Amino acid sequence: MKNLARKALKKNMNKLVAANIKMNILTLAERERYFASLKEEFRKRKVENVEIVLCPPFVHVESFKKNIKMKNFFVGVQNIFQEEKGPFTGEVSAPMAKSAGADYVILGHSDRRKYFHDTDEQINRKIILALKSGLTPIVCIGENAGEKKSGKGEEAVFRQLKGCFKNINSVQMEKIIVCYEPVWAISTNNPDHLPTSNEIMTAKLLMKKFIVDNFGAKLVEKVRIIYGGSVSSANVEESCVDSAMDGALVGKESLAPFQFAKIAEAIGKN
Ligand code: 13P
Repeated sequence: MKNLARKALKKNMNKLVAANIKMNILTLAERERYFASLKEEFRKRKVENVEIVLCPPFVHVESFKKNIKMKNFFVGVQNIFQEEKGPFTGEVSAPMAKSAGADYVILGHSDRRKYFHDTDEQINRKIILALKSGLTPIVCIGENAGEKKSGKGEEAVFRQLKGCFKNINSVQMEKIIVCYEPVWAISTNNPDHLPTSNEIMTAKLLMKKFIVDNFGAKLVEKVRIIYGGSVSSANVEESCVDSAMDGALVGKESLAPFQFAKIAEAIGKN
């Protein structure tokens, strides 16, 4: 990505780096070790102009909130249910997550779409409930391998954007973080399965076009668009910096605070 184009896409706002811890950190002892290592790694590095959002499993939310008191650190959850309360065994709602200490929620993650069949319509409902409870939604949008292969990647991205942001107004949209997360690039160790910085930037521009067309040109500068999919300390420059993204959603490497802090530092610097 050429410097000029990168500058043109740059905005004067904090970047956001979120950790999607997924279904990891299995014991309280492991959690304690994670806290210690996270604090140590972030103390060692100069991480500036970045909001860090840690999204652990629900059971750890309160403890993350109490134990991680560093500046610009927030806690998020990985999902909420599309109703506020009632007979929905096993589910957690937006007001519960907020009251336990969460400020963000990841919605529409491809794991949720794949294993729990979350639809765009349900994600839309969850976005509205999240905002109502004061949670900032981080909404994952991205084509899968089949859609990419058949040349229908863009169409899939637009379909998800349309479905997820149906009946959302500009005031609500301004609070939302959009994450371009191509499903085929998640959890891969194969560099051929990573999008190039140009591909990521193209997806960002598509998303911006959707925002301009549906919410107006003024709003587009205010909505942060981040990237997720095998972000690592080794590829952060190409995946998130050269592509002029406003941050990252990190899976596997968020479990290793040494790597996670390096990613946050690199994103904050640029
Ligand atoms: P990985 O970084 O492990 O590919 O996970 C990406 C992801 O799913 C973040 O939500």
